[in-house]
Amino acid sequence: MPVSACVFDAYGTLFDVSAAAREAANEPAYPELAGTWQSLAELWRDKQLQYTWLRAVTGDHIDFWQVTQDGLDYALEATGLAGHLELRERLLQLYFNLTAYPEVPAMLADLRASGLKTAILSNGSPDMLGGAIVSAGLTGQFDAVLSVEDVRIFKPAAKVYAMIETALDVARDEVLFVSSNGWDAGCASGFGFETAWVNRLKAPMDRLAGTPQHTLSDLSTLAALVAERNHA
Ligand code: LAC
Repeated sequence: MPVSACVFDAYGTLFDVSAAAREAANEPAYPELAGTWQSLAELWRDKQLQYTWLRAVTGDHIDFWQVTQDGLDYALEATGLAGHLELRERLLQLYFNLTAYPEVPAMLADLRASGLKTAILSNGSPDMLGGAIVSAGLTGQFDAVLSVEDVRIFKPAAKVYAMIETALDVARDEVLFVSSNGWDAGCASGFGFETAWVNRLKAPMDRLAGTPQHTLSDLSTLAALVAERNHA
């Protein structure tokens, strides 16, 4: 079955999640970030994700914007920056207005020019996704922007991946799901999608029930991969 829709994870896949701490570190107001912005960004991301998984297991759902703030508060405290309210506000503002990885606009244009549907499926709340799409200059590049808020449970709950077929009116075996998160690609694969893992950080493969069929170093080769696969 040819792939007719490419569905993307948002944070870390299309939008550069480390950009918030990196950009703040470049601003004169925050010299304290000079040596610590990378560890702050990593801990912020790790805690944000851990909180989504724990909340999915316990059923205590809150939206991703709150989880993002909770992860940041943990990371600020762990790096000795708790109470720096101006920095906290600036980091959240930058996170709400992230940039896309450089290859993203051309990749989406190529997919859409070849007649594929494109969509986002993200833990992000609708407001956050709307903000990032505008700040990254990707308005009008998606047939659907799907947020877990519609089912009120985070990935990798099956209910989340199941939103795609209805929203895009496609069969499961027509979907290529694309994520830079190894656990997301693995779980989407276990759900039944063909998946591409964007392994920007050259990480080992996660040991999960499903394994991604494709591994890419970034998104620049995605349109060619789909074209080759559909014409093979
Ligand atoms: C998302 C997170 C997992 O966008 O990156 O869903």
